Amino acid sequence: MKRFIKVSAFVIAVFSACIGILVYSGAYNVGADDHHTKPVFKILETLRDRSVKAYARNIVAPRLDDEKLILKGAGQYAAMCTGCHLTPGKKDSEIRHGLYPLPPNLTQVRINPKEAFWIIKHGIKMSAMPAWGGSHDDDTIWSMVAFLQMLPKLSADQYRDLVKRAPPDEDMKMGS
Ligand code: HEC
Repeated sequence: MKRFIKVSAFVIAVFSACIGILVYSGAYNVGADDHHTKPVFKILETLRDRSVKAYARNIVAPRLDDEKLILKGAGQYAAMCTGCHLTPGKKDSEIRHGLYPLPPNLTQVRINPKEAFWIIKHGIKMSAMPAWGGSHDDDTIWSMVAFLQMLPKLSADQYRDLVKRAPPDEDMKMGS
């Protein structure tokens, strides 16, 4: 038993030293054009998914099928999100190529409303996804969530029509 504890302590010490050397040496490339190794990617992906699920669990979503709310969200989306997350008919953008992880194409995936709300409000660390909660109130963030529920079903014409009818973007929390 004593021997087992000694060996375990030695293995843990060597492992910690290796991690310390890797971190301190500067050998790990943090450039966005160099991708994570598969194990690091898997760990970060699991960390993000588990974290978002845990933090979003107790959020209570309002009704999201209200037309006014969806129209407001359309205007917000068109003003702030399309460069990274695209629009119906737009296959690519200049900024997307430089981002890692690549932002999901939100015209193709329909994300769980509570998780979408949490991600839009708080952003995601070590990715390009900003936290919009500093400049937008919860109602405005819910309008974006409501719009995102519709987005994968919209044609390019329907998208343009909704954005044209959207109210002006006048609800910055910071007041200017
Ligand atoms: C500068 C680029 C950028 C902008 C601008 C941006 N996002 Fe993102 N967004 C990302 C990236 C990158 C991710 C993926 C992060 C990750 O997986 O770690 C993401 C993830 C998301 C997700 C989660 C999607 C999923 O399937 O998990 C939602 C929802 C989202 N963004 C909504 C928005 C909304 C709404 C806006 C505009 C208010 C916006 N984003 C603006 C880069 C951006």
